[in-house]
Amino acid sequence: MQMETPIEKKIIDDAIRDFKIQDFSKATIREVKSIAAFAERESGVEFIKMEMGIPGLPAAKVGVEAQIKALQDGIARTYPDIQGLPELKRQASRFVKAFIGIDISADGCIPVCGSMQGTFASFLTCSQADPQKDTVLFIDPGFPVQKMQLQVMGVKYETFDVYDYRGDKLKGKIETYLAKGNICAVVYSNPNNPSWVCLNEEELRGIGELATQYDVIVMEDLAYFAMDFRKPLSTPFEPPYQATVARYTDNYILLISGSKAFSYAGERIGVTCISDKLYSRRYDALAQRYEGLPFGQVFSTRMLYALSSGTSHSAQFAMAAMLKAAVEGTYDFRKEVGVYGERARRLKDIFCKHGFYIVYDKDLDEPVADGFYFTIGYPHMTSGQLAHELMYYGVSAICLITTGSRQEGLRVCTSFIADHQYKLLEERMKIFETNNPV
Ligand SMILES: Cc1ncc(COP(=O)(O)O)c(C=O)c1O
Repeated sequence: MQMETPIEKKIIDDAIRDFKIQDFSKATIREVKSIAAFAERESGVEFIKMEMGIPGLPAAKVGVEAQIKALQDGIARTYPDIQGLPELKRQASRFVKAFIGIDISADGCIPVCGSMQGTFASFLTCSQADPQKDTVLFIDPGFPVQKMQLQVMGVKYETFDVYDYRGDKLKGKIETYLAKGNICAVVYSNPNNPSWVCLNEEELRGIGELATQYDVIVMEDLAYFAMDFRKPLSTPFEPPYQATVARYTDNYILLISGSKAFSYAGERIGVTCISDKLYSRRYDALAQRYEGLPFGQVFSTRMLYALSSGTSHSAQFAMAAMLKAAVEGTYDFRKEVGVYGERARRLKDIFCKHGFYIVYDKDLDEPVADGFYFTIGYPHMTSGQLAHELMYYGVSAICLITTGSRQEGLRVCTSFIADHQYKLLEERMKIFETNNPV
């Protein structure tokens, strides 16, 4: 027998109609968020919001204090150096050594207004480096805004869903694209937004070898730095380290963000770390267009200069202080963000108990880590049906299709879950299961 849903269905259906959403599977984060806010107001029933991917923790104190001090010392008055604050560059280089176990000199560590700007400037530089190579390859699922960046700059992209190509299959699949000769860069995030799969060192070795063989640049997006909570990645200068392609090729750019690891999203700060070889490499097309400059300097003195003339000066002081404290072991950033893993574990338990399954469930033979995101599906429901149906139960999440995935399911973000909501979710999913027998 059908039970009453926590939110009257008509409120949701009317809202979806009023927002003129034809296909709920393609609803954007903002649309889902607006419908949830509207339904919450209309019904008075609290929503469990899982659609946004923004940090739910306080900003790292060490960063806030350093930034305030820098402002009080008068730093706001002066333009930042276009190459970045020397202290931040130095600390970024140390951080990379301490937590990734690789060497990148301070020159190649360049502050950016968030990884978003880092990818934008990287896409520009990579896509102009060789006229034959005009297309970016995404190992999807991924962060949709990066594709929007390419749309804005008019650069082509190709994509495939990694779901069916893990382990030995990955290298062969990527090679089918690189062999065509038109790919300038390969992009993925690790851990992955939204699926939370983590490519392992063997898979990364394959990517690195191909990058060298086909002379392609790998853009490794480390927005969720060290958040593979299965591994003890938080002791500076000691293995295990954050997995990286940097061990297997010189053609790489690492994108390190302050947003999630340090909960510093609002200040728009990150560091783009370009390998020493790539930084000083001279590409004919770039040299012709930009007064003979090598790759790294085109990135900073042309792309970043044109985009924003550098990165907020005081935020660079914050980032320098956070990286320094992490390297020196006085601030355990991993411990603070570990709460996301704990939330994921509890939420997955509730969903799975009530008939749901994890869509991207494994890294080869190991269950995926618990972290910032995970993916869920429900038998015999498409992602659009599931996202729509869950709204009746006051649960909002986005469909995987919007992230370049080919799988039916939703992305769940753990960042906004409050302690009292586990009980709410449990009650609501019990009704969901009763109303949707498998
Ligand atoms: C995979 C990925 N890359 C990049 C970003 C953006 O990072 P930033 O805030 O540093 O621009 C995000 C944010 O959600 C992300 O999920």
